Amino acid sequence: MQPIIDALLARQSTKADTLVEPAPSDAELAEVFAAAVRAPDHGAIRPWRFRLIRGTAREELGRVFAEGLKRRKPEATAEEVQALAAKPLRSPLIVAVLAEVMDKHPKVPPIEQVVATGMAAQNMLLALEALGYGAVFLSGPPTYDPWVKRAFGLAEKDAIVGFLYVGTPGQERRQKKRPEAGAFVAEWSAPVAVEA
Ligand SMILES: Cc1cc2nc3c(=O)[nH]c(=O)nc-3n(C[C@H](O)[C@H](O)[C@H](O)COP(=O)(O)O)c2cc1C
Repeated sequence: MQPIIDALLARQSTKADTLVEPAPSDAELAEVFAAAVRAPDHGAIRPWRFRLIRGTAREELGRVFAEGLKRRKPEATAEEVQALAAKPLRSPLIVAVLAEVMDKHPKVPPIEQVVATGMAAQNMLLALEALGYGAVFLSGPPTYDPWVKRAFGLAEKDAIVGFLYVGTPGQERRQKKRPEAGAFVAEWSAPVAVEA
């Protein structure tokens, strides 16, 4: 099991604009998605949906981002619009990670369905890293933009959880410093005293 722990402890994101070709093959992506759908999922709802965006579809996504920006912020400058439209061109592959939420489920509230989808995204990050690829999970204003959601066929109740930018790391990655995990961990045995 130690190799798994080593892989977990080595994982880190790769900047989107340093990701180059090749992207994973379809056979490799099949493994990545197999890992994704092993995420914990209360009620076996399978809320996750994955949309592959590559080649000229990245330009199309940029146009959708740009149109969304113009609609929500009519005063956006041409430079702002152009910069946003170029975002998807940074990496050879983007996976839009979507949650199709059952909003009236008797036991599983929407937040749990979004969390499950986020866990699927983490499995994908780990699988990609194990296969030798780099990736970074990004949101930004387009994630919450109704126009962009519509372009993926989502309803208001649904969510774009994030965009996974994927490729081969184009440069050596420095290992980042990480905080000591212990700073976030404590025993709990009784309610924490809070000011009334
Ligand atoms: C839901 C979600 C959305 C994120 N969105 C952004 C983002 O828009 N921009 C960004 O720089 N990092 C974003 N991050 C953080 C990166 O994915 C990444 O964790 C960060 O760059 C630190 O790198 P590391 O994963 O190696 O620690 C997001 C993370 C999550 C979980």
